[in-house]
Amino acid sequence: MSDQQFHKLAPADDVPPGGMKQYTVEGRPVALVNADGEFHAFEDVCTHQFVHLTEGELLPDGKVKCPLHGASFDVVTGEAKSLPAVKGVPVHELKIERAEIYVALNPERVKTGKRRRRTG
Ligand code: FES
Repeated sequence: MSDQQFHKLAPADDVPPGGMKQYTVEGRPVALVNADGEFHAFEDVCTHQFVHLTEGELLPDGKVKCPLHGASFDVVTGEAKSLPAVKGVPVHELKIERAEIYVALNPERVKTGKRRRRTG
């Protein structure tokens, strides 16, 4: 059962194997990666500081490496795999129909760059 709303993202041949690209969906940066022919999508923001992960590197072992301080994330689960990032990136659901990729956005977002203030 899924009430997810899918948005058309890109033609399936837009991102070749080993590639990644950023798209904007509802004002949010979405990373689409093609890891050995399998597509995955996630919020295109590092959880350590604000930078786009698509400006980094897609590693052969299925991780994306942040361009700023080198943290890596699993492109399938979004899990942070190395420091300095400790939180994972939200992953988005994908479906492919007639060679077009559609994405359903994860409501969870990356929050970076804000300091918490103590209240009371
Ligand atoms: S901004 Fe990504 S690891 Fe620091």
